[in-house]
Amino acid sequence: MGTGKFLSVFTPATAEQRKANFEDYWIFTQQHGGELFEDDKDLAKKRARLKHFQDNPVTLRKPLADPDAFYRNYVEMQDDPKSLDRMTLMLTGVYKFARHEWVGIKGAWDSVPDMANSHTVEDKISRVHLAEEFCHVRLFDEMLRTCGLDKVEWVPLGPIKEKIYEQFPKFPGFLMDTPAFVTELMGVTFYCHLHALFDDVLAEEPEVRDRLKELLDEITIDEVAHVGQRRNFIGPIGMKISKALVSPFYTMFFNDIPEVGELFDVKQMISDGQLFDFNELPEHMIERSWIPSYCKA
Ligand SMILES: [Fe+2]
Ligand SMILES: [Fe+2]
Repeated sequence: MGTGKFLSVFTPATAEQRKANFEDYWIFTQQHGGELFEDDKDLAKKRARLKHFQDNPVTLRKPLADPDAFYRNYVEMQDDPKSLDRMTLMLTGVYKFARHEWVGIKGAWDSVPDMANSHTVEDKISRVHLAEEFCHVRLFDEMLRTCGLDKVEWVPLGPIKEKIYEQFPKFPGFLMDTPAFVTELMGVTFYCHLHALFDDVLAEEPEVRDRLKELLDEITIDEVAHVGQRRNFIGPIGMKISKALVSPFYTMFFNDIPEVGELFDVKQMISDGQLFDFNELPEHMIERSWIPSYCKA
């Protein structure tokens, strides 16, 4: 950790470097996820991994004291968040973060070209990327099930917000690439902080703690690769814009999830996003993930 092997994710890159990195990412992503099952929005290796978790379930030593508190607050916070225990807040917070992700990809899946109509390497990468995001929602669902929450529904946002999410991927690249990159970066930051929170909240539930970490690692490894991949769409000016967007973007997004302010240090998350350089990630993640060549020292 902190070995200085990698450079800031905001390191500028030339058009030629980016082209070569798209080719390299395309090779990586095909072996990483395995066969794409487009009708199921799924990937062979991810499906097998989820099945492994489902076939080898672990359960809480002490079941949730008040599952109704989860079900009452997971879609919209009804109670005063300060009145809820940290376990409930963590689980409703995880759901809300994942729900945003799910809504975003659901809108995008129908508006980007399918694989048969993807003629550029960027289009193909984007199609597989979306399938991976659907796998993440399944892994999040499995986290909640592991905590005994098997009645979770994935609820769409209101019709207006859904429409906005559907339009987003149709925007021209120069408008859409920077927020899309910062969103992926925000995911990695959030998951790193969530990983640390598991140690704290699940100290007395080692089996579930370790399982949730395994499930989260599956997601984070993809998300780290997405950070590099989405960064690869962006030239030097867009990179400056992206860095400037980290603070307002994280602030806006996390303000929308009341659990985050209760459980996490948002200022620290913003700072981690601005300083992100891959060096803090553990080796076992780096090995299975992807980092642009120009971010390697
Ligand atoms: Fe994701
Ligand atoms: Fe992602």
